[in-house]
Amino acid sequence: MKLGVLRERAAGERRVSLAPDAVKRLIGDGHTVTVQSGAGTGALFDDADYLSVGADIAEDLSSILTTSDVVFGIRGLGMDDASDLQNVNAGTVLIAQVQPLSDDPAYYHRLTDCGVTLFNMGSIPRISRSQSMDVLSSMSTVSGYRSVLLAAERLPKFFPLFMTAAGTIPPAKVLVLGAGVAGLQAIATARRLGAVVQAFDTRPIVREQVESLGASFLTVDVQTAQTQDGYARALADDLHRRELEALAKPVAEADVVITTALIPGQRAPILITTEMVRSMRPGSVIVDLAAEASGNCELTEPGETVVRHGVTIAAPFNVPSQLPIPASQLYARNVTTFFQHCVSQGLAVSPSGRTELDLSDEIVHRTCLILNGEIVNESLQRRLFAERS
Ligand code: NAI
Repeated sequence: MKLGVLRERAAGERRVSLAPDAVKRLIGDGHTVTVQSGAGTGALFDDADYLSVGADIAEDLSSILTTSDVVFGIRGLGMDDASDLQNVNAGTVLIAQVQPLSDDPAYYHRLTDCGVTLFNMGSIPRISRSQSMDVLSSMSTVSGYRSVLLAAERLPKFFPLFMTAAGTIPPAKVLVLGAGVAGLQAIATARRLGAVVQAFDTRPIVREQVESLGASFLTVDVQTAQTQDGYARALADDLHRRELEALAKPVAEADVVITTALIPGQRAPILITTEMVRSMRPGSVIVDLAAEASGNCELTEPGETVVRHGVTIAAPFNVPSQLPIPASQLYARNVTTFFQHCVSQGLAVSPSGRTELDLSDEIVHRTCLILNGEIVNESLQRRLFAERS
């Protein structure tokens, strides 16, 4: 098949969807790959790196779109500029990471009008055979690691215990709220830097993982069963109140709080109130990784770093883009494995401009949002229908 790699358009986006080693793998499978010039620049892969593994370089987007059967991106094609969809052929397959439950519905109407097929890398099911395709886990790994470095840079203290001739300086106390993929990576990184780490999650299943990383697990009686997909459920109001009460003391005592708590499709739960921020020592740091879902701290300003009551509250967007090399490499490996899987399930584009695909496989079925201009994902169908009525 003819594959195209987009240069990302979003401000601050430094990742690329296919790194050169992934392109080499796809060319080895017999595909041809055309990369938009400069696509890898933000991740420090230049056009020559792609040429050296056998890819072609195209200067402009239209030549990628008019010649490709499959177009790879991080953000969806046309999400940042609708005119990008002008030259896309019907039946073209777009593979990107979109947010079907929160993106502007008009975007999906534009895609259906173009007759394209869209796969969402963010909808990879959480089953063991698709672990190697799971971009959410890959990006959370990068964010969790990076969050600790962001905190360490801002904290006016050491992370490790220092025993010097001038005396002993105690280690920093780090509290991690939400121990999913990002939270566990944050715990591991903070431990490697020598901090004393506590963590909490509403899913009791993670206690053992937290403890195996050398952190202690806070016992709060609000734990809930996870969904079939392994995600948390939102807490009922009384349980949420109980959680806030239980977190008040550990938050006040922490030098750093890293929050990662998310509930799919909903606003992130508030875990740190204004009162709790006030109770923290001046100079303490909160890194809120839930910023894109409005944040876990009441005083978070999504996308900004602010100081409130002497506490630095950092709530960066698109944290994986701050480490664009590994983030691109991991995304590229996930997306390549996913594409190879789709091909093994019969993915093809016919000369008449139709995507051919068997939707019976769970991974294919869950990730395919639009097939030849028709919305095939039930949640997206329901959302677009609700917007219209
Ligand atoms: P996530 O990013 O949706 O949420 C982060 C964490 O916040 C979760 O651990 C969640 O339980 C926690 N949380 C939600 N509300 C909270 C509250 N009020 N207080 C404290 N914590 C709260 O989750 P993530 O990291 O994407 O992964 C969730 C789980 O999915 C994993 O731990 C794992 O069990 C499963 N998973 C399975 C995979 C597979 O089998 N292929 C791959 C990746 C994850």
